[in-house]
Amino acid sequence: MQDRDTVHQKSGKANFDLIYDSEDPREYFNTLGEFDYCVPRHGQRVFRSLAQSLREEKERGGDDPRELDVVDVCCSYGINAALLKHDLTLDDLYARYGSAEVAGLSGEELVEADAAFYRERQMGERPNLVGVDIAQNAVSYGVRSGLLDAGFAENLEEDEPTGELGRAVAGADLLTVTGGIGYVSERTFGKLLDRVTAGPEGSVPWVAAFTLRWVSYEEISSALSEYGLVTEKLSSHTFTQRRFTDDTERDYVLGELANMGVDTAGKEDEGWYHANFYLSRPADEAKTPVQELLAPVL
Ligand SMILES: C[S@@+](CC[C@H](N)C(=O)[O-])C[C@H]1O[C@@H](n2cnc3c(N)ncnc32)[C@H](O)[C@@H]1O
Repeated sequence: MQDRDTVHQKSGKANFDLIYDSEDPREYFNTLGEFDYCVPRHGQRVFRSLAQSLREEKERGGDDPRELDVVDVCCSYGINAALLKHDLTLDDLYARYGSAEVAGLSGEELVEADAAFYRERQMGERPNLVGVDIAQNAVSYGVRSGLLDAGFAENLEEDEPTGELGRAVAGADLLTVTGGIGYVSERTFGKLLDRVTAGPEGSVPWVAAFTLRWVSYEEISSALSEYGLVTEKLSSHTFTQRRFTDDTERDYVLGELANMGVDTAGKEDEGWYHANFYLSRPADEAKTPVQELLAPVL
């Protein structure tokens, strides 16, 4: 378990770089669990609901609804993949990675045990999941455990995507993000959208992103609009991401939100980061407002 003293401060936000790129996800879950990191739990029900809507769109368009391709941006160890493809909850993952059963395993032994664990829990209807993250060890774990159907340790903030990544994301139906906006900007989205829309049918994906309330989504939604995507913010809801690690983090975020004129009562005031949810869709697929689309899972 990572010592709290090694969680250093940067721009007010705790820096968890050390746990983002371990050999396996134990440290990630055990450290973030201390702060009740929970945005993938919201992601699970929202993304599953969007996947279902996309399957229906495909069926209407005469395409095979069983073939749904998702790109998880900032995929880390494949946490959203675990929750989208398997009959599991985030609590199940916290329980597994904090258990005595896996505590004594080597990284390699855990990969093997996890591959079997996830295989047994696969859902019949599950998307094909491509992950992108800069954390090489985390992505490698995600691929070897079978959580990710393909994974790429690439930094699109700085580099052009490799041809292999471009081919893997071409024609994708949905891009998902939890906990990643701010680490990735419009640069990453522009490069991904270029490659996704380069598929044979030139289809444009939906983009679904949870974004901390003090982090702007404006540049990203503006970049997405160049591909014909219309972005809506789910205005009725915010989603808990995790508790603040300490007063420095809390004061920083409350200060930023005050400057933005955002009311923090009952939300960040209570000691939690809150995220907004944004959905971007091609105009002709955006007839049902996001509020109505997601109402059953809110
Ligand atoms: C808070 S974690 C979120 C991980 C996962 N989506 C989740 O919700 O559990 C942030 C992730 O962003 C990744 N990241 C940071 N900079 C990145 C970049 N330039 N491109 C892709 N991923 C990046 C980190 O390696 C880390 O896995």
